Amino acid sequence: MILIRILLCILAPTRLGAVTTNQEFFRIMSQRFLNRKTFTLGSIGAAALAATLAAPSVLAQQKVLNIYSARHYQTDQALYDAFAKANNVKINRVDTDDAGVLQRLKAEGSASPADVVLLVDASRLAKADADGLFAPIKSPVLEKAIPAQYRDASTANGTTWYGFSTRARVIVYNKAKVKPADVDSYEKLASAANKGKVCTRSGSHPYNLSLFSTMVEHIGADKTQAVLQGMVGNMARAPKGGDTDQIKAVASGECGVALTNSYYLARMMRSSNPADRAVVEKVGVVFPNQSSWGTHMNIAGGAVAKHSKNKDLAQKFLEYLASPQAQRYFADGNNEWPVANGVQIDNAALKAMTGGKAFKSETIPVSVVGKNQVKVQQMLDRVGYK
Ligand SMILES: [Fe+2]
Repeated sequence: MILIRILLCILAPTRLGAVTTNQEFFRIMSQRFLNRKTFTLGSIGAAALAATLAAPSVLAQQKVLNIYSARHYQTDQALYDAFAKANNVKINRVDTDDAGVLQRLKAEGSASPADVVLLVDASRLAKADADGLFAPIKSPVLEKAIPAQYRDASTANGTTWYGFSTRARVIVYNKAKVKPADVDSYEKLASAANKGKVCTRSGSHPYNLSLFSTMVEHIGADKTQAVLQGMVGNMARAPKGGDTDQIKAVASGECGVALTNSYYLARMMRSSNPADRAVVEKVGVVFPNQSSWGTHMNIAGGAVAKHSKNKDLAQKFLEYLASPQAQRYFADGNNEWPVANGVQIDNAALKAMTGGKAFKSETIPVSVVGKNQVKVQQMLDRVGYK
């Protein structure tokens, strides 16, 4: 900066050398530029340089919102852009997976620049909350828009995390090998009819932890452990891979039946890749427990970071996520369902998956995963569900 000012003093020496603040310096330069009757290349260049250098001070006034996100969906960019434009905010995103977000927040501690945290599973939101990584907020907007089932329980200090989209944990089966009636509930994955047919990702993956944690609420700990034990005895192979790998293994016949989040199947249903189309042709889907407690629903959600220096702006962003327009981007971008009251989407894959009909979903608060996670992990260890 000093060198540049010396250079400009040579170009236009009067007064400028004595100016003390950069603001004053740029004001005089701009004024001098405007007062000239004839422009020379030198004066234009100097003014352009001054304007360029002045730009950072303008940018410095723009607020910055730092989002640590486990969502990496192309369509989310439009979501961020709309908020940034409407509020003259620059959004910085750190994209990594859930575990990476939590690790980074813990490592950074009170020095963390994070304002908003977005995660894609209830058990991880509960874990981050238990680890003290979130700041509770009081937001009448969010309390009104997001049903109590899909947010953390409120305390006198407020609510820490909110769900912004839902996903169903569904069962996929090989249409040539398995009858849908044999796999129409989670409990039936433990039945004799499914011996040697069951595939899942790791039992302690958060998606399964969340499912088994709500199962404890529905049928009790003893029965849940019996189901887990039966599933282990019915495995076609040791748990491995992600949900998409389970769908592919069901299609190939290596597995007869598997658990998956609904959006992985929807993604394949919307794919133009012939290999994905071939997979989708071979598998059927059931929304489990329609005649009992309903299909397990998980959430993607968010919270204000504990050490945010922009808590008001972070809260405003979460409130924006609950607006109808943002809800459509947020949910539809990953083939999920919006959570905000009264918001609908028109997603062809989700429509095809449900046959265009409403399905019965569980009605207990998803926040119960927080209190049952440790208990479920102990059960998994006891029955050898890796
Ligand atoms: Fe996922």
